[in-house]
Amino acid sequence: MTSPPVVMAPRADGFDVVWGVGRLSRGRIEWRTPDGREGVVAGDAFGMVAQGDRVLRVRAGGWAPGTEVRLRAITEAIGGRPRRHVSGWKTARTLDAASDHARFAVWNDTHQRDDTLRALDAVTPPVDVLVWNGDLCNDWKSPASFVSTVLAPAGRDVSDGRPVTIVVGNHDVRGRWAYRLDDYVATPEGRPFTAMRIGPVACIVLHTGEDKPDDHPTFHGRVAFEPLRDEQAEWLRTVTARPEFAEAPYRVVFCHIPLRWIDESPVDYDAGGYDWFSRMSRDAWHDALVAWGAQVVVSGHTHQRTWLAPTDGFPYGQLVGGGPDADAASAEAATWIDGVAGPDSLVLTVRDLAGTVQHEVTLAPLVQVPIV
Ligand SMILES: [Fe+2]
Repeated sequence: MTSPPVVMAPRADGFDVVWGVGRLSRGRIEWRTPDGREGVVAGDAFGMVAQGDRVLRVRAGGWAPGTEVRLRAITEAIGGRPRRHVSGWKTARTLDAASDHARFAVWNDTHQRDDTLRALDAVTPPVDVLVWNGDLCNDWKSPASFVSTVLAPAGRDVSDGRPVTIVVGNHDVRGRWAYRLDDYVATPEGRPFTAMRIGPVACIVLHTGEDKPDDHPTFHGRVAFEPLRDEQAEWLRTVTARPEFAEAPYRVVFCHIPLRWIDESPVDYDAGGYDWFSRMSRDAWHDALVAWGAQVVVSGHTHQRTWLAPTDGFPYGQLVGGGPDADAASAEAATWIDGVAGPDSLVLTVRDLAGTVQHEVTLAPLVQVPIV
């Protein structure tokens, strides 16, 4: 194993577990729940045991919402000298829409900065979901960098006590090897957009794509985000009509590039310009987000922590986390966002790595939180 078993794609019934391997191997997940049940997950959707020479993935599920699952990964080399690697046990709780409280954390724009990742890992508490809000990478120059960037950043086990939802940022789709990203990033439906209920908080995860049009010469014809934005616009209408999202007390969107910014002057892409906010995404999604009642869009990308309050034209606030620098005095200082929801409020607190509160946003529930 070249990484811990990383718990990703949190769902009400389970998770995907993804881990790196140093040679051709097969893997399985062993699990135990507090009621004494235990089991093994080995087969994939086609009946095969997870196999690979760089990364293994097992989809584990079938548990009730809010179940605390202990799990570990067993890895066995295929061919050559026999080797078997058993990871330590780690604990993860399935999502529970019926809970009257929730806690999530948000990181963004870590850009492979080990000092920042170590500090974020140290200050971030156990939470229901850790949202890693894009720009994990700079660009994918080597296939070996996926494990060191996504699965074992700075050598840490970032999903320990915090199942991870990865939001794809514009730097995560750059470089010769970017097309392999989905081997290492698990999502509930295998798409880079999804929706989940973390207790009373309905969360929509969107992929804002690149920060220039698809036909920009620097992309060399490798990206197709314009149709993906349109597809997400259609999907937004459908998913937000489902009762668990349409009737959620709190409504939050996570996307890497903001949908609003402090300066919205037109960009000259031919002169080296790029999007500080994704006008293309906003044009595609704004009406659906307003119709749903989105309260806040949480983003990164600009490396400048910022809060833009709702206005008449933009009923959703825009919260933007900081940059990649571990030094709290830097203009691009890193932040983490602590989201705490209960019956009376959802509070989003943006802190730098020195612990100083930079922004605090309090949202009232749109409908009453059922007390359980
Ligand atoms: Fe970034």
